[in-house]
Amino acid sequence: MNPVTTRVSDGIAVITIDNPPVNALGHAVRQGLARAVADFAGDETARIAVLCGAGRLFLGGADISEFGKPLADPSLPAVIDAIETCAKPIIAAIHGAALGGGLEVALGCHYRIAMPGTKLGLPETTLGILPGAGGTQRTPRLVGLDIAADMIVGAKPISAADALSAGLIDRLGQGTDPEAEAVDYARTLLSDGAAPRPTRDMPAPKGDIATHRAKAEAKYPGQIAQVTALDAIAAGMTMSFDDGIAEERRLFQTLMQTPQRAGLIHAFFAERAVAKLPEIAGVEPRHISRIGVIGGGTMGAGIATSALLAGLIVTLIERDATSADAARATITRNLDGAVKRGKLDGARRDTALESLATVTDIDALSDADIVVEAVFESMDVKREVFARLDAVAKPGAVLATNTSYLDVNKIAQATARPSDVIGLHFFSPAHIMKLLEVVVADATAPDVTATAFALAKRLGKTPVRAGVCDGFIGNRILSQYRAAADHMVLDGASPYDVDRALRDFGFAMGPYQVSDLAGLDIGFATRERKAATAHPRDRRPTFADALYHAGRLGQKTGSGYYDYSESRQGMPDPAVDAIVASARSGTTRDFTDEEIVRRYMAAMVNEAARVVDEGIALRPLDVDVVFLQGYGFPRYRGGPMHWADAYGLDRILADIAEFARTDDHFWQPAPLLTRLVEEGRSFADLNKTRREDHA
Ligand code: 3HC
Ligand code: NAI
Repeated sequence: MNPVTTRVSDGIAVITIDNPPVNALGHAVRQGLARAVADFAGDETARIAVLCGAGRLFLGGADISEFGKPLADPSLPAVIDAIETCAKPIIAAIHGAALGGGLEVALGCHYRIAMPGTKLGLPETTLGILPGAGGTQRTPRLVGLDIAADMIVGAKPISAADALSAGLIDRLGQGTDPEAEAVDYARTLLSDGAAPRPTRDMPAPKGDIATHRAKAEAKYPGQIAQVTALDAIAAGMTMSFDDGIAEERRLFQTLMQTPQRAGLIHAFFAERAVAKLPEIAGVEPRHISRIGVIGGGTMGAGIATSALLAGLIVTLIERDATSADAARATITRNLDGAVKRGKLDGARRDTALESLATVTDIDALSDADIVVEAVFESMDVKREVFARLDAVAKPGAVLATNTSYLDVNKIAQATARPSDVIGLHFFSPAHIMKLLEVVVADATAPDVTATAFALAKRLGKTPVRAGVCDGFIGNRILSQYRAAADHMVLDGASPYDVDRALRDFGFAMGPYQVSDLAGLDIGFATRERKAATAHPRDRRPTFADALYHAGRLGQKTGSGYYDYSESRQGMPDPAVDAIVASARSGTTRDFTDEEIVRRYMAAMVNEAARVVDEGIALRPLDVDVVFLQGYGFPRYRGGPMHWADAYGLDRILADIAEFARTDDHFWQPAPLLTRLVEEGRSFADLNKTRREDHA
């Protein structure tokens, strides 16, 4: 079926693109649109055209699933060129969203009307490319260099009202019926005798591109799309329109071939794939409107905030009135922060606070549809809380734990209804971080899992299914690569060198900066908890214990691996070098940045392979999403498993063999890794087969 149809009435042609779910501009749409424009140009009964998108938005952009394959003609720039050079006016009727190539189509139209609430943006750099259908040439002509550079480099959509004041659109509609309003606009233009108004004929922009380039280099280190997009804009400032378009196309094609583009597109599709869990396809989630939270500390207050932001009614239980008041104060601060960041308006903040009860009596949870426990990380405490919860919660309530490491099966067994129990592992700060590990225990009922996924969607989170094991997906893998980092420090690397090498690789923070943020007491408590079951050849990071005993617990005490007395970022401290040196035993050596990264990544990928093999993560891509969204893994590298495929699984195996020569206890290759190398397969292959298995 042709996804582009035209109706002509009263001299007005209405061209509609209907390609669910987001009207992406795939081959059939480009072909249909080119034909519709040619037909309109030759139709003597039509004097003006309105271009609409069917469904919930105008156009979502180029079809991302076509990237990396040869693109079939007509190309999007050619279609837009045909629109712009049409001898009769064409109006873009924009509603919902006009993104990337979708906005570029609108910019090729001669007039633009957008409905209130529409998002208009050029998000291409988040996919490792640049607006490649005239966006870098037409946007600056319409709105000037500064706004265009911000839209293209920042990749954040703007509102219809802002688009109007910037000159990106000509008219703001009422929002009732985009097609009808655009047809009214067409009538007005016809009676005014309005002519086509090609954006290409507007003067080239002027301004200070060098400053934008310097800002982009500082803000997006290691990434190439942002500065390349600015190069394309710069071309348009000195060249003719056609030459500027040709240069934009050349740069676009170059970016299309980069591993960064492949990584970012993998991230885009992986984030959507995780939310569709095959085992709950067709399973109806339970109804959720009232949520209980037990514990109002770091996590509980964040979880409550997230729920309030999503419009849920929240009852939070604390141990005593002082702690309950403190939790309310934290939640109020969080909501005020959301108002400041423009995420929430003042009235909704007040309503949210009215929907919050902070109390000390667990009986108040008797009407909760779901309860999330976020008390101390202790099996005894959690089992006691769940036993009490079992006594008060209504039948059918979902009972969730936010434990970081503990066995959700054991927690479930503290109740008489283990099928209602599930893990919901939020990440800190819980009202900001998007990742939610949904830990499905042995007895968890499918509709409880479905409810967790539905709740995640409502909270604006990305749910990833995890199985039960110590640390689930993320923290389990973390404990291995953290150990690899610790071994390097024990063997002579400075924590500062390790952090720097990994930041240069693209991590948001190095592991020792992360320790300072989380608190060194957390790691110490974990080591103590695991000491009894530790293998005699496990190497304990004695330097971390020494810092703990010195009271250097991280940011909260003003010092940890770094000193925070002078700056919030933290400064390296010679005292730490001394503590680390005296906590070492044995000979030491230097580590290059390259070896630091190789060891860290090999440990990460190796443990991740075990996690996939054991079914703790459904597919390699689930691990990627956990690391992209929860552990500051550089998005342009696509996640550890995507990175591993690009690096070469055989090379990782060879690295592990090399490292095992000095420590064959720690460095044992994961069976899956060995198998994949033997079979000449990749994690990407496994993503495909596992998807088919579950189809
Ligand atoms: N191409 C192909 N598929 C797309 C797509 C696109 N541009 N945008 C979304 N989809 C798919 C998703 O993969 C998902 O598929 P699935 O149901 O099989 O998983 C489905 O459409 C629905 O997407 P979402 O779940 O994201 O739907 P939302 O309603 O939450 O969001 C949206 C809608 C805001 C349009 C969001 O999908 C989005 O941001 N899409 C990407 C927009 C974008 O980056 N466009 C630029 C593309 S690059 C370009 O245009 C190059 C040009 O300059 C030449
Ligand atoms: P926290 O110490 O900041 O907060 C725990 C809160 O629970 C305290 O306010 C305490 O008063 C309250 N509490 C304890 N027993 C209670 C009871 N019986 N009834 C009601 N309230 C009770 O701890 P945090 O960091 O919020 O951690 C909570 C849980 O979340 C732990 O299981 C932890 O492992 C997990 N978690 C922590 C993350 C983090 O980054 N801090 C990240 C993800 C999970």
